[in-house]
Amino acid sequence: MTIDVTAAPDVVREQLAQELARVRERSRGLTTAILDDGELLAQHSKLMSPLVWDLAHVGNYEELWLLREAAGIEPMRPEIDDIYDAFEHPRSTRPTLPLLSPAESTGYLDLVRRKVLDSLQTARFEGAGRLHEGGFVYGLVLQHEHQHSETMLATHQLRRGQPVLGLDAEPPVPRDQVPLPAEVRVPGGSFVMGTDDDPWAYDNERPAYEVHVPEFWIDTTPVSVGAYRAFVESGGYDDERWWSRRGWEWRCRSGKRAPAFWIADGDGWSRRRFARIEPLPDDEPVQHVCWFEADAYARWAGRRLPTEAEWEKAASWDEATGTKRRFPWGDTLPTDQEANVGERRYRPTPVGSYPAGAAPCGARQLIGDVWEWTSSDFHGHPGFCTFPYAEYSEVFFGGDYKVLRGGSWATDSLATRATFRNWDHPIRRQIFAGFRTARDARPARRDRADRADRTDHPDRSAGAGESTG
Ligand code: AVJ
Ligand code: FE
Repeated sequence: MTIDVTAAPDVVREQLAQELARVRERSRGLTTAILDDGELLAQHSKLMSPLVWDLAHVGNYEELWLLREAAGIEPMRPEIDDIYDAFEHPRSTRPTLPLLSPAESTGYLDLVRRKVLDSLQTARFEGAGRLHEGGFVYGLVLQHEHQHSETMLATHQLRRGQPVLGLDAEPPVPRDQVPLPAEVRVPGGSFVMGTDDDPWAYDNERPAYEVHVPEFWIDTTPVSVGAYRAFVESGGYDDERWWSRRGWEWRCRSGKRAPAFWIADGDGWSRRRFARIEPLPDDEPVQHVCWFEADAYARWAGRRLPTEAEWEKAASWDEATGTKRRFPWGDTLPTDQEANVGERRYRPTPVGSYPAGAAPCGARQLIGDVWEWTSSDFHGHPGFCTFPYAEYSEVFFGGDYKVLRGGSWATDSLATRATFRNWDHPIRRQIFAGFRTARDARPARRDRADRADRTDHPDRSAGAGESTG
């Protein structure tokens, strides 16, 4: 379902109310609907918040933006603002905060939501200032809660104990029998990067600008588990040649020898997925690799990660008409015919799925399945303007974060698109991230020592810092 922000205000209000209800049901389904208080308050990993922190935090964010900022309503519980401020408290320290109990959190969320639905009745979507234009502030809050649902799923993936997510009853995966080429060509030339007119785009997707991208080749699909396993089994983690300097430091310090959640058993592999052990599926896109691992694999394969501009051009540019698409297949939100998004399954679908989701260049699964690491550091587009607050994007610009694109199986259809930009530290592995590789159309004649330094910018940080969301 989509929000048509140009519809009559009453229609927009009804759609927004439905989307608010839908995302809350999702948050509830990952927390109070399936876990007891002890599990909700526990820290399942130092990398993540207690789930009840995320829950009350999305309510606090909704209060801040839809009640205080958009409707001018007085703070309801100013004493809790500090607790749910992601910048004040890094994730590792959140269990020590005087958190609201699960019941108090639910009560707070319900109270905020009742007032939000009241104020929605008089909300305006044009001529009332930029925050309101096209329902932007509602989009901000909806996308935020969906982002935290994905974060909560990453917490679930790290959690041990009794399985609580029902992993059965997956819908069939759209497939075809056509053998796919390993890579597809994207012609050189200018394209439009970012957007000026997507009403719910973040500040970091704006403004649109022209970028010249030389001809390149990109993998038709994300790198599979089977392909990545060949890298692991050929000793890729023991061979410094494939790793950037920072990557090798990470490899030695961490002692990692395979993606997160892989379990070596005898001569084969299994994996842990949401508290269950199962055989490692060779045909799925690999996930839970950090940027350093993706970068090393690409070098081992004689290739490189795509730049962010290459990824977006492959995902959105229609060469035949010289126009940009919101999604690889067109402008309509993904259904289960085009992409594996929105937690329809608790896993990526096999590489080569979703023929109807192919981009004009022929690449598949650019949206959904796994986030894809790019070679690029996170910076603002030329002409970037912070809106509506610097702590969403701007404070993360610089060399510390790598950009990820496309969204995963856990990303909601409202929270990704061809211009959507995600970012994380290059050491991060608990997110649902994989990658695909690329190459120049005319391979540069460089030896390997040179290529090892070839990222957009030298990767400055192997930082131990955290995502702040
Ligand atoms: C855009 C996913 C990097 O989770 O850190 C959540 C989103 N911002 N709350 C994050 C976010 C504030 C953010 N990412
Ligand atoms: Fe947040």
